[in-house]
Formats: sequence, C-alpha cells, structure tokens
Amino acid sequence: MQFEVLTLFPELFPGAVAHGVTGRALSSGVVGLTLHNLRDYTHDRHRQVDDVPYGGGAGMVLKPEPIFEAVRARQGSGPVILLSPQGELFNQRIARELAQQPDLYLICGRYEGVDDRVASHLVDRELSIGDYVLTGGELAALVVIDAVSRLIPGVLGAQASPLDESFAEKLLEYPHYTRPPVFEGHAVPDVLLSGHHAEIERWRRQQAEARTKRRRPDLLS
Ligand SMILES: C[S@@+](CC[C@H](N)C(=O)[O-])C[C@H]1O[C@@H](n2cnc3c(N)ncnc32)[C@H](O)[C@@H]1O
Repeated sequence: MQFEVLTLFPELFPGAVAHGVTGRALSSGVVGLTLHNLRDYTHDRHRQVDDVPYGGGAGMVLKPEPIFEAVRARQGSGPVILLSPQGELFNQRIARELAQQPDLYLICGRYEGVDDRVASHLVDRELSIGDYVLTGGELAALVVIDAVSRLIPGVLGAQASPLDESFAEKLLEYPHYTRPPVFEGHAVPDVLLSGHHAEIERWRRQQAEARTKRRRPDLLS
C-alpha cells in the first residue's frame, strides 16, 4: 500500500506511524509514504497557498489551484481523499475498504478549510475522524494511515489479529488479562486459567456481546 499525503507541514510525518508495527511496515517497504508540500505546487514569489474567503469572514481558505495541480501530477490511481470534519465518519469498515486499494492520496486542509471546488470536483471522498474540529488534516491523515496500514497483510505479526478485534464483527472485543493472576486483590476470571479452550471461547463471546450491548448498542442495531 502506498500513501501519498499533500500537506503544508510534511515535517509532521511519519510522526506516530514511524514506530511499532507501522514503523516496521514503513521501513520494510510493505507500506510506502510519500509527502508532497503544497507550497511546491505554487508559482508565485510568495508561494501563496491561501487567500481570503469570498463573502468575507475570518480566516484564510486554501486555494484550489495548487491542490488540483498536485493531485493531477500524482502517479497513483487509488482514491483521492480530503480530510474534513464535514466528511463521512471514518470507521473500521471504511479502513477495510481502503486497505484493498493499491494507493491512497490524502489531502490535509488547514486554516478555515479548503476551497469547496476541491471537495466537489477533485476528490473521491471526504473523511472525518470525529465530530470535533482539528487545526489541520495531518493528525486525521495519520489516523487513517495507521488504521489502514495495520490491515495490510504482513503488517501485524499474526495474520488473524485484525479479524479478532473490535468492530471486525460489529462487536467490541472481549476483555484481556495477563499475569499476575491476582493484582491488588482483583483476580483474573477463573475460566481464563482453566485451560478449557471451548469454555474460554464461549466466555469471550459472551463478554464481547455484553460489553457491546452496554457500551455501544448502536453497533448491534
Ligand atoms: C480548522 S479545520 C476547518 C474547519 C471548517 N472551517 C469547518 O468548520 O468545517 C482545518 C482543516 O483541518 C482538518 N480537520 C479538522 N477537523 C477534522 C476532522 N474531524 N476530521 C478530519 N479532518 C479534520 C481538515 O483538513 C480541515 O480542512
């Protein structure tokens, strides 16, 4: 999987994805990350990427020309995605869908946002990572890169791991415990120490269902 990111702050990458399993995927080449500085697609002396909003109002808006030019210069053929608080809410289903693509092109907005012609005439989809407003799209792009990368075969240690996790089956995952068996008076559930694999499986399924019902009933509907 190849990720390309268009940003005013390439120095924010690879950031959090440079470590752990995603870091190994980047250094082994299973995942590739190419950064494009939006200013490199400007042609004026000041390398201007933003301008005042038509109609007035506070803040600056990212201009369409450098963004269109950058996207038109790309090599890949996968979806072009604008990170935006107004986009479709990113979730595990979308991460799985995106992990099937050969490459993704992620556009990070800044300031008041991006000239709307980018959303309406250039990108394939807009993704939001949650109902809050970030300063820029870079953290959102890193979230997408992390969530998608770990679904690429070979990125996680065991092939089966992503199949077991929360959201894989519209369920939150069952609770995990490790040693010691008793910590500050709190014991690990007996069944997990029993060695009965079928019972452990049944207990985990029950826990996952009960937990989902209690914490995220929306997933079950
Ligand atoms: C300050 S925000 C612009 C918010 C815009 N004025 C609005 O109210 O919808 C600047 C940039 O941060 C990114 N961003 C902010 N919140 C985001 C979110 N929840 N998900 C994805 N990207 C986000 C987008 O790229 C956006 O263009």
